[in-house]
Amino acid sequence: MIRGWKRRRIAFIAFLGACLILLVGYISQPVKDVDVEGMISVAHRGAASYAPENTHAAFQKGIELGADFIEADVHLSKDGELIIMHDETVNRTTNGTGQIRDMTLEELKTLEAGSHFHPDYYGEPIITLNELMESFYGQVGLLIEIKHPALYPGIEEKVAEVLSQYPATDSVIVQSFDIDSLKRIHELDPDLQIAVLMKASFVPVSLWQLDELTSFATYINFNISAVSKRTIDEVHKRGGKVLVWSKKDKRLIQKAVSYDVDGIITDFSRWPVEEDIQVVKD
Ligand code: G3P
Ligand code: CA
Repeated sequence: MIRGWKRRRIAFIAFLGACLILLVGYISQPVKDVDVEGMISVAHRGAASYAPENTHAAFQKGIELGADFIEADVHLSKDGELIIMHDETVNRTTNGTGQIRDMTLEELKTLEAGSHFHPDYYGEPIITLNELMESFYGQVGLLIEIKHPALYPGIEEKVAEVLSQYPATDSVIVQSFDIDSLKRIHELDPDLQIAVLMKASFVPVSLWQLDELTSFATYINFNISAVSKRTIDEVHKRGGKVLVWSKKDKRLIQKAVSYDVDGIITDFSRWPVEEDIQVVKD
């Protein structure tokens, strides 16, 4: 009895050891060059590994690195201005505290949004969707994510209003995890390209759901860790495109390429990637 227990314990320790060796081997393996010809590269929150996310500097850096699109997150301030930031509070990425929806544009503009990333970026301001469009429309593709629309009644109308000042092209895409919000955007302006961000809890997505989503969305976007090649093939069969995001693990880019996706949303804005870059922690 005791011998059997000991044997099982030894086998378990040996199994853990083998797992550890495999893991170390995987991590230390260099990222191979991957053929990304023809794939869309999207600088996630701007080039968020190189500059403070969702700032003018990060978007500019994304362009310098050769990204085809920059991705930006949008919220609504207390006085109805569209604010570019990832979180619904200013706490993590500025020197202030509080909810964006409780602050006016004037209050938000007093905050400093660069030095949390590096002192060299001290003084980088929060920007608005209007400012993003004025600076970057026509220079690079824009992937605009509506964040937590349930917090901001009427945000779809405001986003559509700002975007209506610029001709809708293949280079402007509105995305969200909130499908109802995207349907609203589509109703407001059927010419705008829509991308559905798939929540991990919605995956695997059924074929009838893909039929429904591709009826109004050009893109169905997935976290690369939570999608199969079969699903990507099914989106393609319906005439849709797929962007995957893999902001932290560079090796997942190789997987994305092998899955034949249309593009990658990543903090590492161009491939092959450099090693000495900072990874966003959230
Ligand atoms: O574009 C995909 C990605 O932006 C979704 O995640 O949290 O970075 O907005 P998050
Ligand atoms: Ca985003």
